[in-house]
Amino acid sequence: MSIRRLPEKLVNRIAAGEVVERPAAALKELVENAIDAGATRISVRIAEGGTLRLEVEDDGCGMTAADMALALERHATSKLPDDAIEDVTTLGFRGEALPSIASVARLTLESRVAGGDGWRRVVDNGALVAEGPAALAKGTRVVVEDLFARVPARRKFLRSARSEYAACLDVVRRLAMARPDIAFVVEHDGRRVLDVQGGQDRLARVAALTSRDLAENSIGVDLDRGEVHLGGVISLPTYNRGIADHQYLFVNGRPVKDRLLVGALRGAYADLLARDRHPVVALFLDVPTQEVDVNVHPAKTEVRFRDPQLVRGMIVGGLRRALDEHGFRSVQRPAEAALAAWRQEPVAPVPTAEPAAGFLFGAPSETIARVYDRPVRFTPASAPIAGRAEVAEAPPPDTAAHPLGIARGQIANTYIVAEAEDGLVIVDQHAAHERLVLERLRRGMAGQAVPSQGLLLPEVVELD
Ligand SMILES: Nc1ncnc2c1ncn2[C@@H]1O[C@H](COP(=O)(O)OP(=O)(O)OP(=O)(O)O)[C@@H](O)[C@H]1O
Ligand SMILES: [Mg+2]
Repeated sequence: MSIRRLPEKLVNRIAAGEVVERPAAALKELVENAIDAGATRISVRIAEGGTLRLEVEDDGCGMTAADMALALERHATSKLPDDAIEDVTTLGFRGEALPSIASVARLTLESRVAGGDGWRRVVDNGALVAEGPAALAKGTRVVVEDLFARVPARRKFLRSARSEYAACLDVVRRLAMARPDIAFVVEHDGRRVLDVQGGQDRLARVAALTSRDLAENSIGVDLDRGEVHLGGVISLPTYNRGIADHQYLFVNGRPVKDRLLVGALRGAYADLLARDRHPVVALFLDVPTQEVDVNVHPAKTEVRFRDPQLVRGMIVGGLRRALDEHGFRSVQRPAEAALAAWRQEPVAPVPTAEPAAGFLFGAPSETIARVYDRPVRFTPASAPIAGRAEVAEAPPPDTAAHPLGIARGQIANTYIVAEAEDGLVIVDQHAAHERLVLERLRRGMAGQAVPSQGLLLPEVVELD
């Protein structure tokens, strides 16, 4: 078997497999090119979710006819003037988006530089089919038609026009959020679906592109650590979603879907949100270009940090602090109200003891039983909270009979502090209560005595 060099057309088509996975990916490349060209206004037109037609028009620097020919060649770019791949400041740098798209669609490129004449090149699935003068204002217009028409395998995997459209809109929304200085307009099947003015500040742009409620339900983040800056807005834990689709993350102005950042975000909210709920955030991380590698994947949505721990720590710590300052504290850091209550004398009425708890903790005296019993019953937060640790008494001789020792007090309405034979025991009372309930149900099951009651309306419960 002899080795041969593949023809350019085929190489481009192979590259297109990664770069142009779906219409939204092609659109992302075109809008990024417009941004890199210094546009102040970018108009996008989408037909049938981008499968039929995509059009991006900008008022950027434009290209000469000679540059247009080069732009459609593989590995031709104007964006790495010093070959400094570790110092990328533009969104594009690989020099393969246009030829890749042109190899799997019909691409019309029209452009004009200031003071020059407009020119047009039409490439159909990798072959130049027309070229000539074009009339347009300074800037560039790119039209992509019939994407994947000749790549049936890829076309088959496209989703409905509706979901391709949603992906296209998401791409523009993210880029528009990154660049509030630029005006963006998007039309889908003739209907205007996005329209933002240029020259906005970042927060105004985020608000314009997300829901209006976010402004009242979010807090600002703005912190520096060395040369790294983290800014943006994050939603209060009470304002969350069932899917993580409204998490806008940017590194040096580039929208990213990076696992490290998503993980850090999850870590920051870990104690404040259920696992299946997600905050709404727009976070902008700015790091020196040498500290981050954007050349990880052709789609350029992943990055690698030179110091991932610093970035993670900054996000988790920074967001937690911001949420703390707004009264949202994780379980590890009890709320102000709870701490204040802890300093009060116990004044709540003494409830009757929970009998099932008896086997875990010994109750040597009336005082201690009171301190311990009350929280286990989960009185609502509005009720006066008893929490002052009582003066310790000598443990009675039977501590060994109780695996968790003798309850000595409660801290922050959350933890039971007990004195065991071999040391101090701290128990999360909520978890302990769950365990006790489980044990009771188990015992009941064993004796076929779990009390049950039919519901008036049936409740469907899904188990996986
Ligand atoms: N809208 C535009 N306005 C002005 N010049 C453009 C525009 N789009 C493309 N170009 C020029 O064409 C070149 C090739 O574009 P292409 O998108 O293929 O590669 P790139 O942007 O350099 O890198 P990448 O493949 O990472 O996007 C660009 O470097 C730029 O000089
Ligand atoms: Mg590009």
